[in-house]
Amino acid sequence: MAGNGDSQSQAGGLRRLGDGAAAWLCAAAMLGGRGAAARAVVRIAGLTGSDRVVDVGCGPGTAVREATRHAAGATGVDPNAASLALARWISAGRRIRDVTWLQGSAEHLPLPDACATVVWSLSAVHHWADREAGFAEARRVLAEGGRLLIAERSIKPGSRGHAAHGLSAPQAGQIAAQLASAGFTGVRVQTSRAGRRLLTIIQASTGLSEADG
Ligand SMILES: C[S@@+](CC[C@H](N)C(=O)[O-])C[C@H]1O[C@@H](n2cnc3c(N)ncnc32)[C@H](O)[C@@H]1O
Repeated sequence: MAGNGDSQSQAGGLRRLGDGAAAWLCAAAMLGGRGAAARAVVRIAGLTGSDRVVDVGCGPGTAVREATRHAAGATGVDPNAASLALARWISAGRRIRDVTWLQGSAEHLPLPDACATVVWSLSAVHHWADREAGFAEARRVLAEGGRLLIAERSIKPGSRGHAAHGLSAPQAGQIAAQLASAGFTGVRVQTSRAGRRLLTIIQASTGLSEADG
């Protein structure tokens, strides 16, 4: 029996080691080719030195590090501990300042009300478990006049498997409608080239709408 217990705990240990290695590999894979998308959102968001950015689903943090070059500060939030560890390690190595990494999800942002001027989510909204809750959280942490950007790879309607990781035009339209229902104003959808990728970008703000004067 003792032998059984030993081999079970050994198998459990190996599985945990395997899961840990897989999580690190997945996180590292998210570093490839993300710079162009990060630069595109920085440009489209029109970041200035007074902006405070929150990146929801930051992965290993490429866009957060890009934000720190233009904004007053940036926070990366992700549920995945391995991605955050990689983000911290890279940022420490590059001596990046004014950056914070927090474990959390779009649906439960570990941040106070009105702490950000820009919230964005790159290639992550298609992973969120509950978009309505995520948009309510984005609205809560944005200050008045804050900007929200959702950026995803543009995909064809009806795409399957890995090709479905992104947003089709109808899906972008659905998100735009959800944002308007969540109280965002100035909602608009555009496409923008980022390196070899075509991105669909949905922008919205927490400011007054034109109709409100
Ligand atoms: C494809 S990666 C994109 C990472 C990064 N934004 C980038 O562009 O390199 C998707 C990320 O979404 C995160 N994610 C999954 N579910 C999430 C949720 N409910 N809220 C926030 N992020 C989530 C994953 O952990 C992962 O880091």
